[in-house]
Amino acid sequence: MPIHASGWRRSILPILLVFGASACERTGWKAQIAREDTPVQPIRFLHSVHVGIDSIPCAYCHYSANVSEEAGIPPVGTCMGCHRFVAGTTDEFRTEIQKLLGFAADSTAVPWVRVHSVPAFVQFNHKPHVRAGVTCAECHGNVGAMDEVSRVAPLTMGWCVTCHRDRGASDDCSVCHY
Ligand code: HEC
Ligand code: HEC
Ligand code: HEC
Ligand code: HEC
Ligand code: HEC
Repeated sequence: MPIHASGWRRSILPILLVFGASACERTGWKAQIAREDTPVQPIRFLHSVHVGIDSIPCAYCHYSANVSEEAGIPPVGTCMGCHRFVAGTTDEFRTEIQKLLGFAADSTAVPWVRVHSVPAFVQFNHKPHVRAGVTCAECHGNVGAMDEVSRVAPLTMGWCVTCHRDRGASDDCSVCHY
């Protein structure tokens, strides 16, 4: 059976999504912070493949964005829900998926490089933004169409405050600094 066929994707992905859902533990992710807008990652993970082609919802991997401060990066277990079965259809894909299998075999977290961060004296919390209907794309761009994630917003105080004023959110200093 030609495993690359899009029909295969359509039929197996819903099963993988249900099956993999048991692996939703938190990672306690404390990654190294990038200086570049598009840092090189330990595995070349493509959002364009997972979101763009395979239509996996953001929340499947970043499941804490609407309930907590952090959106969070999925642990290896979330990836393995699918990659126990999905080995890759091209040499390039197989090579990158092998790296993932290596981390899984060693029970080691993938040392992802953090793309977005604000200084420690700034309070940023995903939950009120997601609850207020601010979309992921407004702050992160169209990640689903990106290969490697790129930082598109400046993350400066002016950027935060301008949107707060536009949306009627508070621009009181103590909202973001306390
Ligand atoms: C199959 C799992 C998966 C899905 C689905 C997914 N992501 Fe990700 N995402 C990751 C992984 C792994 C990383 C860390 C590696 C990287 O930065 O590319 C990441 C990184 C990110 C980052 C950068 C985090 C940082 O370091 O600052 C953003 C922003 C992001 N994802 C947004 C999204 C959005 C928006 C969607 C839906 C359109 C989405 N992701 C769907 C797995 C996923
Ligand atoms: C819901 C199922 C699912 C989940 C969860 C998932 N993947 Fe994938 N992944 C796929 C499918 C399907 C492909 C495409 C395989 C192909 O066409 O050859 C793929 C392709 C890949 C590839 C090769 C393409 C690329 O992105 O470079 C890598 C590497 C990869 N996945 C890593 C990961 C990592 C790391 C995670 C966890 C953060 C993850 N995957 C989570 C289903 C999944
Ligand atoms: C109002 C702007 C905004 C919105 C909306 C937003 N983010 Fe973020 N995101 C940020 C900022 C700022 C950071 C850096 C946070 C930090 O340093 O603590 C970040 C960090 C992240 C990270 C890195 C891990 C983490 O939790 O810090 C991921 C993954 C992420 N966002 C995904 C998402 C997803 C998925 C959505 C939609 C559900 C989303 N973001 C919505 C601004 C936003
Ligand atoms: C694209 C628009 C947008 C951007 C950019 C944005 N915010 Fe917000 N922010 C909002 C909205 C809308 C709310 C929800 C206000 C409400 O619920 O009344 C909010 C709420 C908050 C809250 C909670 C306020 C409260 O009263 O509990 C904090 C803290 C916050 N934002 C910090 C930040 C920081 C820090 C940044 C920049 C790193 C930022 N925001 C960028 C739109 C934005
Ligand atoms: C909506 C969120 C938000 C509000 C409201 C806000 N700030 Fe900030 N502030 C930030 C962010 C994000 C940074 C870090 C990025 C930067 O330096 O631009 C920052 C940085 C700063 C810095 C450090 C600047 C530097 O150059 O290192 C000072 C001082 C500061 N803010 C004071 C204030 C004061 C005073 C107020 C009220 C008048 C205020 N902020 C309101 C988000 C906010």
